[in-house]
Amino acid sequence: QKVLLLYSGGLDTSVMIRWIKENLGYDVVTLTLDVGQDSNDLDAIAQKAVKIGAVDTITKDVKEEFVRNYAFKDVKADGLYQGTYPLSTAVARPLMASVAVEVAHDTGCSIIAHGCTGKGNDQVRFDLAIRSLDSTLKVIAPVRDWNMNRDQEAEYARKHGIPVKNGGKYSTDENLWGRSVEGSDLEDPSMPVPEDAYLWVTPPSKVDGTFETVTLGFTSGIPVSLNGEHMDPVQLVKKLNGIAGSRGVGAIDHLEDRVTGIKSREFYECPAAVTVLTAHRALEKLVLTRKELELKHYIDNIWSNMVYEGFWFDPLMAHINAFEESVNTPVSGKVTLKLGKGMCIVSGVESQNSLYNYGLTTYSSVQTFDQTQAPGFISIYGLQSVLASSVRSVMKEA
Ligand code: ARG
Ligand code: SIN
Repeated sequence: QKVLLLYSGGLDTSVMIRWIKENLGYDVVTLTLDVGQDSNDLDAIAQKAVKIGAVDTITKDVKEEFVRNYAFKDVKADGLYQGTYPLSTAVARPLMASVAVEVAHDTGCSIIAHGCTGKGNDQVRFDLAIRSLDSTLKVIAPVRDWNMNRDQEAEYARKHGIPVKNGGKYSTDENLWGRSVEGSDLEDPSMPVPEDAYLWVTPPSKVDGTFETVTLGFTSGIPVSLNGEHMDPVQLVKKLNGIAGSRGVGAIDHLEDRVTGIKSREFYECPAAVTVLTAHRALEKLVLTRKELELKHYIDNIWSNMVYEGFWFDPLMAHINAFEESVNTPVSGKVTLKLGKGMCIVSGVESQNSLYNYGLTTYSSVQTFDQTQAPGFISIYGLQSVLASSVRSVMKEA
């Protein structure tokens, strides 16, 4: 039997190549995906895998597909877990799982292995996604399934000459939609996020006082241009991560409820995601009706919870995504934002589908709204409420 290992090049998954061979007797094929993480020297990672004992290594650049079909679904759904976290790690897992299933089929692997612990969300996302796509595949997660800890892994690496580069004190995960940071000094929620946890976002103490103006163009709910220049999705997100991050935008300090029930202090850096989501919400307010906004808000919340909890491939998601697709159809236009001092402020919205009507809203002489109709509207609209108030005011104690 052969195992396909989702391989990042880090300590957990490097140890696993050797450990799986030694303890389970399976050959290991590694799969490394480029989703825009900083350490994306894929050749070096593949060479390392071979050195440790992988029989084959496969690397794929999936950045384009990731932004187009995963991150931008988060935009359409205004996806924020607990109203705060743009789900950057969460949306990458189903893509990684689906590529892994495909590659497992191509390479004749009957088992897929990942490096997650048993405490987190990612194990839920990988396991559920892989099993939804092919329930005959077996999923193993050695760190979880054999209850390993970091010290044991480091010791195992040392004993077997497995190279470990000092990965810093935090546990991190990166892709174009954001950077997740947890552990170490972040584990005391009474203390501020230490400056050494920041990498993509300039920490508050170092941001200068100026604001930069940025315009984002949207077509049917997805961003298509930055400062008037049409850009492909990967280029746009990369560029915006740089601009917004340098203005201190996108740092998120979140006390989060994990799927397992554990409360965890998480730090995220999502400069592009925060900017795009802020702009998208502003544009929706201009073009969608009150009733559309109301239902959308409710469904967005379900979308966010489903994705956070690993149900990307659940049948309900097809229905939810159909709604998101449809409701985003008129969400086209331009949003101007001011980025500075860690803030992302909407300063203008325009759209060919705008429902904002100057004649109706203005208090000036050009107004077209017939105010004399208002009293009749109010008396019928409030009929039951006024009636009930008067009945209750004379109601006797029973
Ligand atoms: N809590 C975040 C999530 O559930 C991030 C998890 C990944 N973080 C990490 N350090 N590996 O999506
Ligand atoms: C892990 O526990 O493997 C990473 C954190 C998470 O999945 O939430």
